Amino acid sequence: MSVPRDQSPECPVHDGIDRRKTAQLAARSIVPREGAAPVQKAGLARAIMRSQEALQSIGGGVGVRYKNPDHAPVIFLDGMPHRKKRMAIAKFLSPNAVTTQHRDVMVRMTEELIGKLRGKGEARLEDLSFQLAAAVVSEIIGLTNSDRDARAKRVERALYAGIAPRKPGLAGQMQALHMTYATLMFMWMDVMPAKKARMAERKNDVISTLLDENYVDQAILIECLTYGSAGMATTREFIVMAAWYLFEQPELRARFLASDMQGQLAVLMEILRLEPVAGMLHRLMKQGAPAPDGARAGELYAIDIRAVNTDEELVGACPFAVDPDRAARQKENGRYMSFGDGAHNCPGWQVALHETRIFLDALFRVPGLSLKRPPDIDWNPGVQGYELSNAIITCDRVGA
Ligand code: HEM
Repeated sequence: MSVPRDQSPECPVHDGIDRRKTAQLAARSIVPREGAAPVQKAGLARAIMRSQEALQSIGGGVGVRYKNPDHAPVIFLDGMPHRKKRMAIAKFLSPNAVTTQHRDVMVRMTEELIGKLRGKGEARLEDLSFQLAAAVVSEIIGLTNSDRDARAKRVERALYAGIAPRKPGLAGQMQALHMTYATLMFMWMDVMPAKKARMAERKNDVISTLLDENYVDQAILIECLTYGSAGMATTREFIVMAAWYLFEQPELRARFLASDMQGQLAVLMEILRLEPVAGMLHRLMKQGAPAPDGARAGELYAIDIRAVNTDEELVGACPFAVDPDRAARQKENGRYMSFGDGAHNCPGWQVALHETRIFLDALFRVPGLSLKRPPDIDWNPGVQGYELSNAIITCDRVGA
C-alpha cells in the first residue's frame, strides 16, 4: 500500500507531506488476512461493521476449547452470547463508572508516577504509561490481591510473549516456552490470589461476575489476558503517541492544557484518528444472509482503520492535519473508526481516553519537562498495530 497524500487546496497542510508518524511503516506493514477484501471507504466500512450479519470471524480464539463456548472472551463471540456478555461488562466500563469508580485510581496512579518522575528527573515514557494502564485495568478486572508493581511486570511479560510475532525453528520453541512460563507465573501469582479472595467475598469487578457464572480457571485467565491486551497494551501505545504529538506541537500542547475536559478529549481523539493503535479489523459476512450495499454474503473483509479515518467523505477536507475542531464540524463524536464500530466497538474507550487525559494533563505541567529521546516505532503484525519504545522524558528534579 502506498502512503496517501494530502493535497486539497484549502488545506493548510497542502505540501503533499503526510506527517503521521506511523504512515510509512503502516503502509509497508499492514497486510489483510489471506482471502480478505480490503475496505478503505468509510461508508462501506461502517455498514459492514454495523451489520447484524457481520461475524468476528476469529472463531473460538487462541486455540482453546471451552467447556462452555459462551465463556470465550467477548472479542471472540457473536450473536446472543456476545450481547449477553457485553451487557454483563457494561456496568464496569460505563461513563458513570469511569467518573465515579475508576477516576480515583487514574488520579492516584498519575500522582504517584509523576512523583517518581520528578524524584529521578528522567523516565521511560512507555514504562509510565504501561504502569498506569495496568493499574486501571487491574482494578476493573479485580486483579488486586498481589503486589501491584510486580503484577504489572508479570502481566506485561505474559501479554507481550503472547502477541509477539512467532519466530521459526529453535528460537520459536524457546519463545513458546517463555510464553508458557510467563503465563503460568501470571496465573499463579496474580489471577489465583484474586480468585481466592473473591471466592471468600465477591466484589464489584469482572472476576466476581465470572465466578458467579462458574467460569473455570483457564477461562478466567484468558479473560484477564484479553482485558490486558485490549486495555493495557493499547492505552500504553496511545499515551506515548499522544505525548509525542504534544511535545512536538507547542500550539496543540497549549490548547490541550488550556481546554476543559471535552476540549482535551477532542485533542486526544484527533491524534488517535491519525494514529489509530489498531490498524485493521476483520469481519466475515454470514453465508446466505443479507449483506450491506457494496458487500457480499460469505465474504471476508479487512477494514483498514487508517484509511477510513482519513477518508474525506467522513472526516472532511485536509484529512492529514491535526484539527481538534474537525469532529464537531463534521457532527461526529471524534471516535471515527479508532475504537472499532458496531457490536464489537470498544467498551473501554471512555476509560482509555480519560486515563490518558488525566495523565497527560499532569505530565505537561511538570516543570522542565522535555522529550530527550523520541520513541522508536515498530510494527506488530499480530495485532496490526504500532509499538513505541525507548521514549525518554526528563524534567527538573525535585530538591536538585
Ligand atoms: C487507546 C486505547 C484503546 C484502543 C485504541 C482500543 C481499540 C479497540 C478496538 C479497535 C476494538 C474493536 C475490536 C474489533 O472490533 O474487533 C476494541 C475492542 C475492545 N476493547 Fe478496546 N481499545 C482501547 C482501550 C480499551 C480499554 C482501556 C479497555 C478495557 C478497560 C478495552 C476493552 C476492549 C474490549 C473488552 C474489547 C472487545 C469488545 C467486543 O468484542 O465486544 N479497550 N478496542
